[in-house]
Amino acid sequence: MHSPDASILRHATPADAAIALSWTPAAESLRRWAGPGTRWPATPESLWADISSPDATTFALEPSGLGLVGFGQVRFRAQAYGHLARIIVSPNHRGLGLGRSLCTALMREAVRLHPIKAFSLYVFPDNPHAIALYRSLGFVERGRHEKFDCLLMEAPLPAVTPS
Ligand SMILES: CC(C)(COP(=O)(O)OP(=O)(O)OC[C@H]1O[C@@H](n2cnc3c(N)ncnc32)[C@H](O)[C@@H]1OP(=O)(O)O)[C@@H](O)C(=O)NCCC(=O)NCCS
Repeated sequence: MHSPDASILRHATPADAAIALSWTPAAESLRRWAGPGTRWPATPESLWADISSPDATTFALEPSGLGLVGFGQVRFRAQAYGHLARIIVSPNHRGLGLGRSLCTALMREAVRLHPIKAFSLYVFPDNPHAIALYRSLGFVERGRHEKFDCLLMEAPLPAVTPS
């Protein structure tokens, strides 16, 4: 298993987004990862434009020697929540603990970046692996997205401690 290490997280570039896009080669997998607002067919440029926003900080997970294995964002939602988004691990590296490392590192970044009261995220109900991961990190369901068929999940701040 991979041990959590925030130092393996760095700011992402459009080139990282292009690699992450190659991990979601179908409309459905892109929707589940990047959300319903993402254009399809997607190009690296359209994806980067669709996921970029002033409140979003985008990160790449690149443990030494492995290359890019994960990608995710921290947003500041409702002036209160460290909101995790666009979380993905390379299909060749799933089941090794990297998704957990990625989420934990993003939660630490959220605490550093924003004056947050709690964490939040959206996930589609047909994504049981992601939901299991989030539950194991302390996230619980708090309702649905106001517009899309996504679960809203939240976790309290003590779910992660500063490194
Ligand atoms: C969800 C995702 C990020 C998990 O990444 P991962 O590196 O495979 O996850 P980990 O190895 O860290 O596993 C963490 C937990 O996730 C859950 N999980 C991951 N893979 C699972 C599987 N195949 N079956 C059941 N649970 C699974 C388990 O709770 C696991 O904890 P455990 O190992 O203690 O049982 C990865 O599957 C992914 O990139 N999916 C596609 C993109 C996506 O759907 N992102 C979420 C958008 S909201």
